[in-house]
Amino acid sequence: MTFNKDVAPIIFAHCTTCHRPGEVAPFPLLTYQDAKSRAPLMAKVVASRLMPPWKPVPGYGEFLGNRRLTDAQIRVIGQWVREGAPEGDPHDLPQAPRFVSGWQLGQPDLVLKMARPFNVPATGDDVYHCFVLRTGLTEDKYVVGFEERPSNRRVVHHSIIVQDEHGAARRLAHGSDVGYPCFGGFGFPAPGYLGFWTPGAVPHRQPPGIAEILKKRADLVLQTHFHPDGRPEEEQTTIGLYFAQRPPREVPMDLTVGSVDIDIPAGDAHYKVASFAYVPGDVEVISIIPHCHLLCREVMANATLPDGGTKPLIWIKDWEFNWQQQYWYRTPVKLPAGTRVDMEMIYDNSSRNPRNPHHPPERVTWGEQSTDEMAEVHLEVVPEQRRGH
Ligand code: HEC
Repeated sequence: MTFNKDVAPIIFAHCTTCHRPGEVAPFPLLTYQDAKSRAPLMAKVVASRLMPPWKPVPGYGEFLGNRRLTDAQIRVIGQWVREGAPEGDPHDLPQAPRFVSGWQLGQPDLVLKMARPFNVPATGDDVYHCFVLRTGLTEDKYVVGFEERPSNRRVVHHSIIVQDEHGAARRLAHGSDVGYPCFGGFGFPAPGYLGFWTPGAVPHRQPPGIAEILKKRADLVLQTHFHPDGRPEEEQTTIGLYFAQRPPREVPMDLTVGSVDIDIPAGDAHYKVASFAYVPGDVEVISIIPHCHLLCREVMANATLPDGGTKPLIWIKDWEFNWQQQYWYRTPVKLPAGTRVDMEMIYDNSSRNPRNPHHPPERVTWGEQSTDEMAEVHLEVVPEQRRGH
């Protein structure tokens, strides 16, 4: 096994989206030297599937952008390291990936930027901040695509965008352009997400005929989770929106299955929250967003069809708050009217959970602070698309 022939193709395809300058990972993996200097660690983190980060268990939902390595790819990296991590013949080296440095979906129809840079402190707790972006639109728009470009990916952990038709966010920001602190929620009841950015996220366009409606009076509100990196940093995010000319055939709806009935005793290592909902009509599920916080360990969602058949929607066995994201189904999942969607989450509130925010553990109940817990699965659904319409 050599780097040039066997390992570089894997790394270029599966690691460099994050492991390159300006991206979220702490070091690049673009050259033989980069890889050689971390070879044993690389073998270890791919074998344990810590890297590339990809949480859904295979076989429980087929998702776009799947980052998971095959067993064969993991064996290649392991064997290469055991053989002394040789470089190999330069002729075998594939071309390093070229990343589009501009907008990946093309020039957006509307570009919005945070009014001013936000200062992220060098140290301390993670920061959640909401920014109000005024659109200046004079008519409603049909949003079919969304792309977000943080200016400083070393500190931007993830961000969520919603629209605010009622000026609630402006009031929370006291009309200023510096935004307001916000953890967990936005501080007002926000309808479905317009966009969700996580490291390595690939911008997405909705299937034909499907769009969100962005109201002309609405502000966009960007909630960003910052992770201090040891030195003072600045961030000024830019957002691109892509519009359809014609009104959509369908506007996606949010079907939430969740529970606020959460009361986790201190020390309980296996606390279960379960809930269910019925699908009101024949729908197709486009994407799924599970949401819970730091104590959460396992997330499951399953559909039981009226005929008794079942369809797994997602299973994450080692939930990590830090790697939450929106998952788009490769093919929308059809669920007939009357389908029951069950969700179940398991929490570890013992001191053995390294992410437990309380030392010693404390009783934890429902709430939007990081130290509280939540239990929600959001399904983005549209009525079933029938051919010929
Ligand atoms: C989606 C982004 C992303 C992708 C893709 C990715 N990484 Fe990482 N990697 C990170 C981040 C971020 C860290 C820093 C640790 C953390 O936050 O979990 C990291 C850390 C690491 C580390 C250091 C781990 C440690 O314990 O210090 C290694 C080694 C590594 N990655 C190897 C890889 C390899 C090999 C691949 C491809 C097979 C890969 N990564 C793909 C984001 C990524």
